[in-house]
Amino acid sequence: MEKLVIRGENKLEGIVKISGAKNAALKIMAASILSDDKVMLKNVPRIKDVFVMAKVLEELGMKVNFNKSRGLIIAPASSLKHEAPYELVNQMRASIIVLGPLLAKVGKACVALPGGCNIGLRKIDFHLRGLEKMGAKIRLEHGFIEAEADVLKGTEIDFNFPSVGATENILMAAVKAKGTTIIKNAAREPEILDLIYFLKQMGAKIKGAGTSTLIIEGVDKLHSSQEYSVVSDRIEAGTFMVAAALTGGNIVIQNAPTNFMGMIIDKLTEAGITIDETSEGLRIFRKGEIKAIDISTLPYPGFPTDMQAQMMILLSIAKGASIVTENVFENRFMLVDELNRMGADIYIQDPHAVIKGVDGFIGSPVRATDLRGGAALVLAGLAAKGVTEIMDVFHIDRGYENLEAKLKSLGADIARIDEQESLKF
Ligand code: UD1
Repeated sequence: MEKLVIRGENKLEGIVKISGAKNAALKIMAASILSDDKVMLKNVPRIKDVFVMAKVLEELGMKVNFNKSRGLIIAPASSLKHEAPYELVNQMRASIIVLGPLLAKVGKACVALPGGCNIGLRKIDFHLRGLEKMGAKIRLEHGFIEAEADVLKGTEIDFNFPSVGATENILMAAVKAKGTTIIKNAAREPEILDLIYFLKQMGAKIKGAGTSTLIIEGVDKLHSSQEYSVVSDRIEAGTFMVAAALTGGNIVIQNAPTNFMGMIIDKLTEAGITIDETSEGLRIFRKGEIKAIDISTLPYPGFPTDMQAQMMILLSIAKGASIVTENVFENRFMLVDELNRMGADIYIQDPHAVIKGVDGFIGSPVRATDLRGGAALVLAGLAAKGVTEIMDVFHIDRGYENLEAKLKSLGADIARIDEQESLKF
């Protein structure tokens, strides 16, 4: 087990380049199941979740190779298997996304049921009901979802809530289904748009990209003839923006998908942070104190739940009281106990967190509880007086590429060592 050790209070300065989006790369990798030939992807982040998805595809018989120029080549299986084992699904809940493409490609899928996830109940009923409505027979047996469909048929599916994963699973089943599928109240996250562009490049017929109604005309075959470059990660970009703002630094963020970051940029601006679009990239700095603001997470184009924890760090040292409301997941304030140990003053009354601004954080040993909560603790450590040690770093490794190297290049004192060791800066 490793931990991150950070000596805080350095102002971050310099240029940082944002990697490809985890949540787009994972789904596009799953979509490669649908292709009859080799898929070539660029801008795929080298993070743990991507490696797990690569293993899932290999378990299905596909060949996955990372090459030096940051590309990922995925070759189809000579005989595609249909089982995603528990060991992998358990490591990454998003493995469930292979269900739709497998059903569409081989007419059956056996995917381990994802275990309990700490940020909320994270049900999959919309995925399963949607596939059933398309004609799949689904049984839950011995901890596996067993799905079968001789033919998937186009139909109309109306989600009660715009679920990202369910929209993607149904979309990937529908591109090869017989007839037309209409998805209503579809999620509109930029990573879904990226998946749609990739599917269209392979010959899928999809109308309504970027809107909440998707109309999909099934086709017989999908081919991947050109390279596809994954969209950049708006959450990683947002995390670095908060790092600059928190530490009173001045950084330039390259490759930020600015078009998809409206709410993040608006809320940071409201909190008194300056964000300038320059020829080099987005320049972030802060002139005065951080202002208290209220935030409510919502499906895109609302404020992303995946940036909620990072914003709590910023608001913890704002002037005045802020209220953060979490509307997407039930249990996404887990890091609050750790933050309060670092000197924050946060009170939870679900689904709200009331944050009273304090003068600063105090470095402490803390434990990452989930991916974004872990990243938020890193941010708190960067701003804290003294040394912060963050245990259970594996959560953070799931979604941030080269986090320490990027932070170090901006001037942070950060190191990764064994949990048992100690380090003096
Ligand atoms: C994806 C993202 C995650 C992000 C989330 C919301 C990936 C790998 N993960 O997760 O980073 O935080 O979108 O933007 O892309 N729900 C149901 N039934 C279902 C499906 C979902 O009730 O069948 C509920 C969930 O319990 C949750 C809410 O809908 O409360 C949102 O979940 P969803 O949009 O599906 O998130 P994920 O796809 O799991």
